[in-house]
Amino acid sequence: MTKPEDPAGMRKGLVNYGDAGFSLFLRKAFIKGSGLTDNALERPVIGITDTGSGYNPCHGNMPQLLEAVQRGIMLAGGLPVKFPTISIGESFAAPTSMYLRNLMSMDTEEMLRAQPMDAVVLIGGCDKTVPAQLMGAASAGLPAIQLITGSMLTGSHRGETVGACTDCRRYWGKFRAEEIDAQEIADVNNQLVPSVGTCSVMGTASTMACIAEALGMTVPGGASPPAVTSARMRVAEQTGTVAVQIAKNRLTIDKVLTEKSLENAMRVLLAIGGSTNAIVHLTAIAGRLGFEVDLQALDRMGRETPVLVDLKPSGAHYMEHFDAAGGMPALLRELKPLLHLDALTVTGRTLGEELERAAPPFKQDVIRPRTDPIYPQGGIAVLRGNLAPGGAIIKQSAADPKLMEHEGRAVVFEGLEDLAERIDSEDLDVKPEDILVLKNIGPKGAPGMPEAGYIPLPRKLARQGVKDMVRISDGRMSGTAFGTIVLHVTPESAIGGPLAHVRNGDRIRLSVEQREIALLVTDEELARRAKEQPVTEPRAERGYRKLFLTTVTQADKGVDFDFLAAPEMRGRVPKA
Ligand code: FES
Repeated sequence: MTKPEDPAGMRKGLVNYGDAGFSLFLRKAFIKGSGLTDNALERPVIGITDTGSGYNPCHGNMPQLLEAVQRGIMLAGGLPVKFPTISIGESFAAPTSMYLRNLMSMDTEEMLRAQPMDAVVLIGGCDKTVPAQLMGAASAGLPAIQLITGSMLTGSHRGETVGACTDCRRYWGKFRAEEIDAQEIADVNNQLVPSVGTCSVMGTASTMACIAEALGMTVPGGASPPAVTSARMRVAEQTGTVAVQIAKNRLTIDKVLTEKSLENAMRVLLAIGGSTNAIVHLTAIAGRLGFEVDLQALDRMGRETPVLVDLKPSGAHYMEHFDAAGGMPALLRELKPLLHLDALTVTGRTLGEELERAAPPFKQDVIRPRTDPIYPQGGIAVLRGNLAPGGAIIKQSAADPKLMEHEGRAVVFEGLEDLAERIDSEDLDVKPEDILVLKNIGPKGAPGMPEAGYIPLPRKLARQGVKDMVRISDGRMSGTAFGTIVLHVTPESAIGGPLAHVRNGDRIRLSVEQREIALLVTDEELARRAKEQPVTEPRAERGYRKLFLTTVTQADKGVDFDFLAAPEMRGRVPKA
């Protein structure tokens, strides 16, 4: 954490040659190579993470954002210095973007530590980038502000509004069920992503954007303007200006990311019907600050937090409509009685003070009043039982109500290869009332806990018109997906969790009402199976994969590396 007497600007973190004067002399000589004057070098230095990449169209407006942020910084009397970090594009990172989130957080943390800056603007958008940046910045401890790249626009397919990626899955499901032909699926492929920016539904990217604002880490209203709008550029300019303020006031990130702001973020996650991935990310961010997430308390919080935002996949609209309806300030106003209004934000004002300054409410149909919710409880429920002693989750707001109390026969797939080989086989012994179980897609299993928990429906059932089945795995699912899908089963199968020992034909009971996920097999039988077929944990000989497999934690600890969490835990959130 920065102390008042700490050196600022270019004097920060000098390379030690045993002569501080020489270090500064050398540093100034080199940065003057960029054409900067001594006058410029006396200003507060604001680092800006440039996460543009040809592999990341969700950050495709990076050049314009950088220009606007730099303008805001200069207008406020700071010196902008942009620098690159890793960028993770969801569809381009194998084995899964989650495998790289911690690497990006380490890159971000160490670049913030290594380079002289008084504050940093973190520019992120695509799913894993914002959590990685918040995790890294939380550990580095500088004054920091988040800028979201913004959502993409929606497209239009044969008169219907479409957007990535809930509609990607819906149309692909229709294609698999042979309801639409190759020409139509090719046509819709051209419409799903009509501009740069992040997915246009309440997927992980939009969820993390809303969470960043709820945490107080963005300027007010910073979550929702689409990527290609002038409003997004004004947010970027304003972000640059506020970055100079937080540098001057030494408003370090630990003053914004607190127990209270974490609780506000959880409340918002539940009220937006947000992505299940955000639980893992919030757990990791909290872990960097020394807080454990209490899943039972989160579930209790969920029971008293209605879903108010009518966006796909839980509802009907898209991010641009959320923005037009007033965005996060409008939602936060609805949630006011449930929030910590005294939580500080990057503006230096509290959340409550910001809400006082927000535009007045108006009639719209995207953000509902608490008296007329989309769904009476929070979007996510936490399950327990002998199949998931460390917990599992289900996005109840995107599930089929008819399947939420269900008992069925397990149809088991041992991993992704097994799934790919057999799911569409005409010989697969599967009925609509069965429960599909997929193993080995947890943090260590795949590795990286891919978003493969949205197990495709067997083609032969899809053709019969089956639209949903109970599906269970230790993996994650895209925030844009929907269905009665149990995720994050902990401990995972690859380290010998009970899921490893489920066999074809076992009975499984899901009760969302009771918050239960039960494998109807005795403890003795499970112990016998564990002895008969012991699990060998995945290993790697070298490199990042070795680091990953030896240090990654389970879903209930945020899938962070164990050595990156705060050395000591100082509390649990939420307190509900
Ligand atoms: Fe980047 Fe969806 S692929 S946000």
